[in-house]
Amino acid sequence: MQLPFEIFRDPRAMRAKAEDLRRDGRRIAVVPTMGALHDGHVALLRAARGKADVVILTIFVNPTQFGPQEDLSRYPRDEAGDIAKARAAGIDLAFCPDAAAMYPPGSQTFVEVRALQQPLCGASRPGHFAGVATVVAKLLNIVQPTRAYFGQKDAQQSVVIRRLVRDLNLPVEVIVAPTVREADGLALSSRNSYLTPEQRAAAPVIYRALTVARERFAAGERDAGALREAIRGALATEPGLSIDYVSVAEPMTLRELARVEKTALASTAVRLGATRLIDNLVLGAG
Ligand code: PAJ
Repeated sequence: MQLPFEIFRDPRAMRAKAEDLRRDGRRIAVVPTMGALHDGHVALLRAARGKADVVILTIFVNPTQFGPQEDLSRYPRDEAGDIAKARAAGIDLAFCPDAAAMYPPGSQTFVEVRALQQPLCGASRPGHFAGVATVVAKLLNIVQPTRAYFGQKDAQQSVVIRRLVRDLNLPVEVIVAPTVREADGLALSSRNSYLTPEQRAAAPVIYRALTVARERFAAGERDAGALREAIRGALATEPGLSIDYVSVAEPMTLRELARVEKTALASTAVRLGATRLIDNLVLGAG
């Protein structure tokens, strides 16, 4: 039976609704987002739709994962547009709390995924993954879904969340879906909307650089330093771009490798002007 579409804003009301659905034997899938939905988010919603009785989209621009100098206040917001896109992708319910509902006065508990939150994006965004882990733990506790969907685009985030779910014994299956890209390879991101036309023209170099590493790996290169240099070299062909990090790491621990035995996560974060973009490819997968 089709549920009437509803938007919940109060965590208690959302939790009560989810409890009713579970009692009726319905399998719930949740797709956490910060809104500004693009085709990457829509792909997660469609994947969730395929395997659940009830798909819940959450939209919450989580203040605790933004640093003081970051883009919280200018983060794109379009709830009505997001809901329309998500309903077209077949969601049943949406959970769109405000910051006061998620972090009432007196809130002070944080979830820290200690080692995994440190490297890569954690190094230039201190506190970011504690904010992500905390809000995801809260969303999973409110909805208590059978499955939760995340994107490979944010590889470190997915690794942090898998670890969080294991370490806190959360009874949810984490699904990580492939990165959705533009035709020129640029990974879809809400932050792409900040790029000037010149920056947008330069941005596909990020994926091209990762592809160079994949080709070198396919040709037999196993020295992780050489793979990192290949990525750096390709990125350096765009003068307007500055590198935050280039990594070839073990995919589950995120420790930098000296040699790639079987698989590695090749990832990078760069800045084009004020906009920070990330992308990654798994070497040796499939
Ligand atoms: P947000 O950036 O809105 O992304 C929501 C989900 O969409 C994340 O799981 C992200 O990895 C995925 N996603 C983004 N771009 C994608 C792409 N091009 N292809 C596939 N999946 C993509 O990530 C967050 O929000 C937040 O940190 C959140 C997990 C909601 C916690 O606040």
